[in-house]
Amino acid sequence: MTLWGGRFMEPPDDTLWRFTTDPADRRLLTEDIAGSIAHIEMLGHVGLLPDEDVTVLVEGLKRILDEANEGRFEFVDTDEDVHTAVERRLGELVGPVAGKLHTGRSRNDQVCLDLRLYLRRACDRRIDQLHDLVAVLVAKAEEVDDAVVAAYTHLQQAQAVPLAHHLLAYAWMLLRDAERFRDAKDRIDVSPLGAGAAAGSSLPLEPRDVADRLKFAKVFDNSLDAVGSRDFVAEFAFACAQAMVTLSRLSEELVLWATEEFGWVRYADRYTTGSSALPQKKNPDIAELARGKAATVIGDLTALLALQKGLPLAYNRDLQEDKRAVFHADDTLTEALAALSGMVATARFDPPPPSPWVTALDLAEALVARGVPFREAHAAVGNLVARLWAEGRTLAEVTAGELEGTHPRFVPEDLDLVDPRGSVEARRTAGGGSRSSVADQVSRLREILGSR
Ligand code: ARG
Repeated sequence: MTLWGGRFMEPPDDTLWRFTTDPADRRLLTEDIAGSIAHIEMLGHVGLLPDEDVTVLVEGLKRILDEANEGRFEFVDTDEDVHTAVERRLGELVGPVAGKLHTGRSRNDQVCLDLRLYLRRACDRRIDQLHDLVAVLVAKAEEVDDAVVAAYTHLQQAQAVPLAHHLLAYAWMLLRDAERFRDAKDRIDVSPLGAGAAAGSSLPLEPRDVADRLKFAKVFDNSLDAVGSRDFVAEFAFACAQAMVTLSRLSEELVLWATEEFGWVRYADRYTTGSSALPQKKNPDIAELARGKAATVIGDLTALLALQKGLPLAYNRDLQEDKRAVFHADDTLTEALAALSGMVATARFDPPPPSPWVTALDLAEALVARGVPFREAHAAVGNLVARLWAEGRTLAEVTAGELEGTHPRFVPEDLDLVDPRGSVEARRTAGGGSRSSVADQVSRLREILGSR
């Protein structure tokens, strides 16, 4: 069934039908019905529909909602889209009065409404999931409390830090990813109903009334903008893409840390896979796939931006393609968050200590504390490092005499600085890689998670 045909002398060609219909919008079914119920109630409220019609139509729509919620709603191949399917089913249930459903409305404002309702709820769900992973990382940070690892720059060992500090860096990144969904929700939470096909209606519709019924914070200000814009979809997809990029960075490290070379972590059997050829293998496929799928979500965002760039106002059918992209982005993030949360929650960390070289800055800073210019201290320790390297030795093997020979302001007690654990203890900067900073971060994160 189509909602048009009056001016057409022949039925749609099969190729047109296959090319223009897309079952992707079927997942907007419950939103479409909820939007229609609110629309009918508004039509009754403004006197465009008599009470008896409102009662019949709302009851019919509620029956369809039950069918949808119980998985009993049946689409047929001849439904052009989800809006048509609901109107068709309503006709089957209540007869010709179903023809009043589309009063003062177009699929152009309707599809925007459905998508806004869907994405508004999706924001809340992704925020919850992101917070769940933050909670997993916080718990892990507490569990690995004692472990010290190297912080890296250029993937070279740089300074000693608690492993917890490294894990919590991801907690803060994921928290911002959640904030991004909260921000996007503000711009999603705008009702487009009443914009009609393009320019509103001569009927006395009340957009604010229908928006209130659907608990929208705002109502559109310009009908062309309301039906022709999809920046809210692209923004949601950006929130998905950025979150996937965060997960991808975490994943890259989860892969790296599980290598023989790093040896920081073992993953639970139930969150790893085996090799069909190599009996010894235990592969971190979840992390690899999260990293790989981030690429496809970046693709979704790119598609949504490209979709809008050449469009004249207002609605164009191109916009139908927004749903596949944004649903794919949302689904991929949903699954990646669930899988990675399990993988991290069950991971067992036991990293080897970092190399003593990570204490080089501590030695230089000991000189700085005694008034030596940093550049001079840097050069002195650099020379010491070069000499030890040449002799195939490490900082851990340096003697008090060598230290004093390096710079006259060194004292024998400075030998104690050449210990990654001591380096962590000496760290002072708020938010730096010290144990007190980690404790502080854990309590702040717990507070933020607790107030959600
Ligand atoms: N399926 C369309 C979409 O997703 C719904 C709006 C169609 N409007 C129209 N005039 N054909 O964008």
